[in-house]
Amino acid sequence: MERILDGEEGLVKELALKTLIAVGEAYGAEKMIEISSAHISGVSFDTIGEHGKDLLRKFSEAKVSVRTTLNPIGFDRDFPSMVDESFYREQIEILDIFERMGVKSTCSCTPYYYENVPSFGEIIAWAESSAIVYANSVLGARCNRESGLSALCSAILGISPYHSLHIKENRSPTIKIRVSGRIHPGKLGLYLGRELSGIPYMIFERIVDIDYLKQLGAAMAASGNISLFHAEGLTPEFRDFSLDGLPQLTLEERDVEDESEDLSEFDAVVLGCPHLSEEEIKSIYLMLREKRLLKDVYLFTSRTVLSRASRYISCLRNIGVKIFSDTCMVVSPYLRRRYRILATNSGKAYNYLRSKKFGGFRVILASLEEILDASSR
Ligand code: F3S
Repeated sequence: MERILDGEEGLVKELALKTLIAVGEAYGAEKMIEISSAHISGVSFDTIGEHGKDLLRKFSEAKVSVRTTLNPIGFDRDFPSMVDESFYREQIEILDIFERMGVKSTCSCTPYYYENVPSFGEIIAWAESSAIVYANSVLGARCNRESGLSALCSAILGISPYHSLHIKENRSPTIKIRVSGRIHPGKLGLYLGRELSGIPYMIFERIVDIDYLKQLGAAMAASGNISLFHAEGLTPEFRDFSLDGLPQLTLEERDVEDESEDLSEFDAVVLGCPHLSEEEIKSIYLMLREKRLLKDVYLFTSRTVLSRASRYISCLRNIGVKIFSDTCMVVSPYLRRRYRILATNSGKAYNYLRSKKFGGFRVILASLEEILDASSR
């Protein structure tokens, strides 16, 4: 470390270490700990712009030292005409820099399916809030809420300041949430993110699956700063902590029902925030296979899932569903020139797409079944 701080291993490593030390000081970290993987967000030119690209150039001489994957970019590399030429050039330059550094250009926010799968207890440095909450909660990995910059510094040095969710006792739940009935995961997540700041211990009275947990966590992390939840009987650490004396809240559908779901008028459907799993693609296929589309329907997923679910993908494309990898409805400018009102099942997309920065759309948040029913016959 001394050598790095003295600049003996180059300016980039020195800058990276100073950044991590500053982060560690802000969070009271006592030491650095080795990490086994990193995931970098803030990759779309639309999100980081010129300033972000300039900052990235400063790091471009370095190489990452651990398995490192990349969040979505501003277009699908198979459909470059999604963006204009100058955007295309800027984005490719960003991608080239990352690739030269040894980052895998996965361009997906769900690296945890195939390309970058942490195991239980593994210490990782990920940016992308939806991936962090999934890795922590569903996989039991240990990750703090990193920024794109701190994740990149960690990727280069292979270390992270040791604090917060790296430490087992800090992963203890702070409130019990009993969920009565089936509540839309996006609506529930948005509500919890806004209302809580601790670690919820979820008790579901109805069966929920892993894609429900993915949607729940992404929405929680988008509307607030929750990066870990436990779910009774479902997540790997749910038995590890005492629940004695925890406050308890019981929620029903009507408690979280302030998000729009009026499906009488919308222009297009956007699904895949976070990127769709194979199971989700199969469900969409089963719901649409004998239908005719009345609206434009867009799906976003990773390249790996796209190829693994190729059978369903070709059938869906044959009936007119538009399917993209590498990018998403939020970080690509593609949809902004085309539509005004979007329907989605994602609480996170609902949260972002309404903001001016990401298009200022009117957004309808409803269940997958309701949306696909309203957009096909
Ligand atoms: Fe992923 Fe884009 Fe949503 S990066 S989590 S699909 S905003």
